[in-house]
Amino acid sequence: MTAMLTVDNIVKVYRSHRTEVRAVNGVSFEVEAGTTFGLVGESGSGKSTIARCALRLIEPTSGSSSVDGRPITGLRGKELRSLRASTGMVFQNPVAALNPRLTIEQSIAEPLRTHTALRGRVLAARARELLDEVGLAQSHAERLPHQLSGGQCQRVGIARALATRPKLLVLDEPTSALDVSVQAQVLNLLQELRREYSLSYLLISHDLDVVRYMSDMAGVMRKGELVESGPAAEVLVTPSHEYTQRLIAAMPETPGAVPITERGTLITTPKVAEQL
Ligand SMILES: Nc1ncnc2c1ncn2[C@@H]1O[C@H](COP(=O)(O)OP(=O)(O)OP(=O)(O)O)[C@@H](O)[C@H]1O
Ligand SMILES: [Mg+2]
Repeated sequence: MTAMLTVDNIVKVYRSHRTEVRAVNGVSFEVEAGTTFGLVGESGSGKSTIARCALRLIEPTSGSSSVDGRPITGLRGKELRSLRASTGMVFQNPVAALNPRLTIEQSIAEPLRTHTALRGRVLAARARELLDEVGLAQSHAERLPHQLSGGQCQRVGIARALATRPKLLVLDEPTSALDVSVQAQVLNLLQELRREYSLSYLLISHDLDVVRYMSDMAGVMRKGELVESGPAAEVLVTPSHEYTQRLIAAMPETPGAVPITERGTLITTPKVAEQL
């Protein structure tokens, strides 16, 4: 097995003139090619920070990371942009992540314009193709983000992340802003895309069921540290760390939520199934 993403001893301290927040304190893990690594942990434990440092969307204070065996630490300019093009990121709030003034087609074309030589008709055709890949209709192309539902906007976010044909996607709470029924659709789409394009995912979610359903491996963050990691079925079903046990015990029973019992089996309630 080869690592698609290697995170090695990353530390991130946010400094302003008065305060210092040690958001990530020496975290290491690997995402093996073609697999999903799920990261859970309470709010503020440093999940988004580690993901951003790993892709160098923000600079880590120390530590390093590699994408597909290529160190991303220390890269500048063109080389950094080229390595970034082999990764994609999907964010929590799909509507806010889109430029409100661009049509859906323009939004999807934007990363292609930045990272590829495609222009004109060929560019538009590729954007339409991506629309199709994420299950949107061609009629959505000319709309603005506010004219789509939250779930549809998240599909646009996924299309944008896929535009440059990356091998690695970082999904930071990709479904937490969505209704439960739409959540299941988006998760299933992500699973299909992963299989079809042999993608690797770093998935961040505060929803343990989502991580259990999606992940091969899982890690648990607490106060900037990775307190436990291993096969998702072990870490999230029979955790050894007391903090993970408490995290599982504290999981609220969401009324109407999609109950997920084991990896790969998404069990829907009849009501949810109707909406799928
Ligand atoms: N730009 C910033 N400047 C200063 N502190 C920050 C900044 N971004 C995040 N932090 C702090 O770093 C810590 C980790 O934040 P982070 O966003 O990584 O947590 P998280 O696990 O993603 O939380 P959530 O589940 O709420 O998204 C928090 O204490 C947060 O307040
Ligand atoms: Mg976060």
